[in-house]
Amino acid sequence: FGYRQNIFSPTALPYDDEQEGLKDQITIHFSHVVAENTPKGIAAEKFAQLVEEKSDGHLLVQVYPNSMLYSDDNELDALLKNDVQMIAPTISKMTDMLPNWQVLDLPFLIENNEQLKDVLNGNVSQSLLQELETVHIKGLTFWSNGFKQIASTSPILEVEQFNGKRIRMMPSNILRKQFHLLQAEPIATPFGNVYRDLQNHLVDAQENTISNIYSKQFHTMENHITLSNHGILAYAVLMNEQFWNELDEKYQQIIIESLEEMQNWQFEQAQKFNEQNLQDLQSDPNVTIYELDEANKQQWKEKLHPIYEHYKNTINDQYLDDLLDELN
Ligand code: LMR
Repeated sequence: FGYRQNIFSPTALPYDDEQEGLKDQITIHFSHVVAENTPKGIAAEKFAQLVEEKSDGHLLVQVYPNSMLYSDDNELDALLKNDVQMIAPTISKMTDMLPNWQVLDLPFLIENNEQLKDVLNGNVSQSLLQELETVHIKGLTFWSNGFKQIASTSPILEVEQFNGKRIRMMPSNILRKQFHLLQAEPIATPFGNVYRDLQNHLVDAQENTISNIYSKQFHTMENHITLSNHGILAYAVLMNEQFWNELDEKYQQIIIESLEEMQNWQFEQAQKFNEQNLQDLQSDPNVTIYELDEANKQQWKEKLHPIYEHYKNTINDQYLDDLLDELN
């Protein structure tokens, strides 16, 4: 047999296997950190189903949810080593490697799902995707998980209530800046550790989407939820570059077609999951949900105002203007 990778890699597969039925069968290992019943979880399964159908079973996608294979702090390294062929990290988690990507972490820029869809399909996002070539990763597309809210062990409505709060965040300098401006204490930890950190009282709050809060039961401890929609949560769907380059062109085309075919469906599912999970939370007597009213939102925005000049002066002076042009 020939092997695509060294035989110790889980992707080691016979690529000219003589056994009947296995000829030219390729498996893509797709690792992610959230639960199956989430916008990213069902998107990974949908992608697997489309790719298998379109390739008549020759191209298989094995999905590993819930950080069961790799967690936040090692999935990107595993992708670069081709120990896993696909991951879909939140954009925030790519910002250390690609600082310009922080533009999509800026608060209170994108206001609704339509704008979010336009931005993820827009020119700035395409430019960001192209930057992946500089780090030898194949960027395939963006998926959505809607808007981030604040989940906390005590109410956070007025901006002063952020003071001193230990807030779990994703590893992104602009998110660190965001929470420093709000006078909170940002703590970057992997998604898979958040539940335990809450149990051990290591954090007081976090920003996340309703689907991530509900699917991991964070609300059983962070039972005060402020609907702030202050930021977006979107995913970069990534493939190992060497694996992509070695794929037969017909399989590359199947992957592209499958992702294009499911793009709008994925955005709709993100909206549906977050709406459904919000209803689930609203029916939980132990959870208190607050709408961020205009007066409090203005207070948050005033505190956060320096973050935009900070991005333009220290990270990239063009992308923010381009994004604002796309939004207007
Ligand atoms: C988080 O770390 O909170 C999210 O990025 C998890 C995810 O992949 O949605």
